[in-house]
Amino acid sequence: MPPAPRVAVVGSANTDLITHGERFPRPGETVFGQRFEISFGGKGANQAVAARQCGAEVVMIAKVGSDLFGTATIRNFSDFGIDTSHVYVCEGAATGAATVFVEPNGQNRILVAKGANDELRPADIESVAAVLAGVDVVLVQFEIPLATVYHTVALAKRLGIRCIVNPAPALPADLAALTAADYFIPNETEAELFTRAPLSTIEEALACARLLGLKGFRKVVLTLGERGSILAEAESAVHFPAAAVQPVDTTGAGDAFIGSFAVFLAEGLCDRDAIERANLYAALSTTKPGTHRAFPQRAEFDTEWKRRGVRVRRAGATDAAAVSALLVANGIGHGGALVGNWELPEIQMRIERGDSIYMAEESDRLVGILVTEERARATNPRIAAMLNAWPGSAGAYVYGPVCVDSAARGKGILAKLYEQLARDRPGGEAILFIRSSNELSLKAHLRLGLREVAQFELAGERYRVLSSA
Ligand code: RIB
Repeated sequence: MPPAPRVAVVGSANTDLITHGERFPRPGETVFGQRFEISFGGKGANQAVAARQCGAEVVMIAKVGSDLFGTATIRNFSDFGIDTSHVYVCEGAATGAATVFVEPNGQNRILVAKGANDELRPADIESVAAVLAGVDVVLVQFEIPLATVYHTVALAKRLGIRCIVNPAPALPADLAALTAADYFIPNETEAELFTRAPLSTIEEALACARLLGLKGFRKVVLTLGERGSILAEAESAVHFPAAAVQPVDTTGAGDAFIGSFAVFLAEGLCDRDAIERANLYAALSTTKPGTHRAFPQRAEFDTEWKRRGVRVRRAGATDAAAVSALLVANGIGHGGALVGNWELPEIQMRIERGDSIYMAEESDRLVGILVTEERARATNPRIAAMLNAWPGSAGAYVYGPVCVDSAARGKGILAKLYEQLARDRPGGEAILFIRSSNELSLKAHLRLGLREVAQFELAGERYRVLSSA
């Protein structure tokens, strides 16, 4: 067995006072909540526990108060098997406390009194340089003084240790002091603060992540809650949709993402594989209330990862070659059913101009592709004939081609590709054509709920037109 990854967390530990209620009170108003509980939290502590639950050896560098909560916090870390040799008790200070309000849809609002977390100083981090020198990854967040965050990033750089900065909660900060980090992982609120860019659509989020990259970060991972996450590096930005779950409490989901991401990276996975797994780990953490107790153990996660099998995401620039290869292999020239030009320059051009091309992957192997195109951009004569026969409603777009690797047929891959598209373009009308002789494709699309709306003929071949409207 390979040795367990070693993770150090420089960060906060809080006591979370969690109230579940129907809605947040307005100023001057009192409302009843449904349920209250006290649990262990804090962004640093949550990330440490997530990393530990994923199988890492974890050392926590933090400060707690000289109160009952401080003692209990240290015991909680020990119970999880986290090294507490560098969790210091700060005389006279209170342990950090977070008042958390959770709405029925799992959304939360959090008010933090930092207490002892604010006493974790650069000198404390310098004094554990030898400990940090021995780990694979260092994680740091913004619930401790920013000077300490900057110092940790600089120290990790000096020691050559991979460093992940999670700028949470959102605070104005000197970004230049953070760009030495290997990964910068904000959520939507934090990214908005640093860029002032809108984040309503996935396109805007991709642009925002790229913008953060331009501020000097080598790799930006933008977490988007139930919309998944984005990896931006150099010129490219790729969206990874979230795993579908029924959330009951999203508190700490971002922390679960970061703690697990650190472990997957330290195990040697590439960024994309680590992000896809962290997306699922974070999603699973929202299916139970609270934070630490809601973070799944590694064995539970691995079982769920295998069970979910096929995953779908949008292709980015670095996927162009794989996308082109699968489409070409399924082209009419190779005995397949796809018509059109799917050579690499065509795919590169489409990805570059922002077309949504969905990829289905199973155990990291590309098994399906769904291409979409905006009506105004289409140049193919078959598409022109199709739009002539059925122009579609405002906002309609061209669907297809779609192809599933022959070895992966019968696993619902077409449905998974289509589900993701429908999630990304709710209410949009997909229009496609199918050769009349391709009975299998016709049946598969009718099963998805598309309906035949027109027919056309071109160069002696008859085509049927289907619409999702
Ligand atoms: O990210 C969630 C955490 O934020 C909570 O556990 C709370 O303590 C606050 O730090």
